[in-house]
Amino acid sequence: MLHQSFTRAMAALFAFLFLLASAAQAQTAKLPNVTILATGGTIAGTGATSTTTVGYTAATVGVQALIQAVPEIAKVANVSGEQVFQIASENMGNEHWLILAKRVNALLAQPNVDGIVITHGTDTLEETAYFLNLVVKSRKPVVVVGSMRPSTALSADGPINLYNAVNLAGSPQAVGKGVMVAMNDQIHAARDVTKANTTTTDTFRSTELGMIGYIQGGKPFFYRDVTRKHTVESEFDVSKLDALPQVDVAYAYANVGDVAVKALVAAGARGLVHAGVGNGSLPAKTKPALVAARSQGVVIVRSARVGQGIVARNGEANDDQLDFVVSDTLSPQKARILLMLALTKTSNTKDIQRMFYTY
Ligand code: DGL
Repeated sequence: MLHQSFTRAMAALFAFLFLLASAAQAQTAKLPNVTILATGGTIAGTGATSTTTVGYTAATVGVQALIQAVPEIAKVANVSGEQVFQIASENMGNEHWLILAKRVNALLAQPNVDGIVITHGTDTLEETAYFLNLVVKSRKPVVVVGSMRPSTALSADGPINLYNAVNLAGSPQAVGKGVMVAMNDQIHAARDVTKANTTTTDTFRSTELGMIGYIQGGKPFFYRDVTRKHTVESEFDVSKLDALPQVDVAYAYANVGDVAVKALVAAGARGLVHAGVGNGSLPAKTKPALVAARSQGVVIVRSARVGQGIVARNGEANDDQLDFVVSDTLSPQKARILLMLALTKTSNTKDIQRMFYTY
C-alpha cells in the first residue's frame, strides 16, 4: 500500500516537473535570440568607489559579467555574448569597424539570430553606429548601447541601458529601422544622433532632426522613421575589404591657417572633410591648400563644426567651380565615414555628392 502511494506521488512529481520544463522550454522558444557583441567602454568600466563617475577605467568588465549583472535580460530574450574587443572607444579604428561589421553580418545571416546589441564606449559610439548603418546587410535590429557611468557607480545607467537595448533588438517593431542607438530610455537613428555632453546620462541627442522613439517598461514606442537610406538599401559593401581609404577632418576656427590641411594631405589622405565655421565657410588662409589638394585628386567635403543645419551647396563657396562636395546635415565625423565608404566605390565628386544626399 505504502509503496503504491510512494510510486503515485513520484509519478505525479515527475509529471509536474515535465510540465514545468515544457512550459519553460515553450517560454524560451517564444523569446527572441539576441547576440551581444561587447567592445568595451564605460558600460564595461569600473571605478575605485561607488561615487566615482569620472576618472574610472573603461573596458574592464567582460561580456558575460555584463549579462549576469542584469538577470532580467533572460526573461525577455535568449542572449549570447561575444567579446569582440575590450577597448575605450576613443581608440576605435577602421580595422575594428571592419571586424565588427563582418561579424554583425555573419550573425544576422543566421536564421536563429533575431537581433544584435553592441556595447560600446560613448565617445565614438555615434560613429560606429553610422558606419554600421551604411554596411549592415540585414533588416534585423542592430542596437548600439553604452553608458555614462561605470558599472561600479551609484545609479549606474549601463544595466538599464543594456536591458532596454536587448528588448529593442528583439522587438519586431524595430525591424527595418536601420542601426539604432538606445540610451537613457530613448531610441535614436544612427545618422542623426550625437554625443552632446561630456558626462551626463542624457548626453545622446538627435537635436533638431529628433530621436525616433522611446523605450518604456522594456517596450519600444516609435514616433517617426528616418528618411535616408540605410542597411539593405545601402550600396556599400565591406565584406571583401580589409582596409578603408584614409580620410581625415580639418577643423576651422578664427586665425586658422593651412598647416593641418597640408599635413593631412602629405600624410596620404584620399579624402578631406573641412569642418568649417558657420555654413561651412572656408577661411582665406585655408582655401588655397584645399584647392591644391583637390587638384592632386583628394576629394574635399565641406562640412560645418556648428552641429545643426544644411551645409548649402554653392553657399559659402562655389562648389561647382571648386569641384567640392557638401556634407548636407552630416557632422564632420560622420561625413568622414560616408566619404571613406564612398571612396571604396568612386572618386567621382558628382556621384559622391549624390551619396551625401542619399544617406
Ligand atoms: N573612454 C570613453 C569611451 O570608451 C568613456 C566614455 C564612455 O564609454 O561613456 O568611449
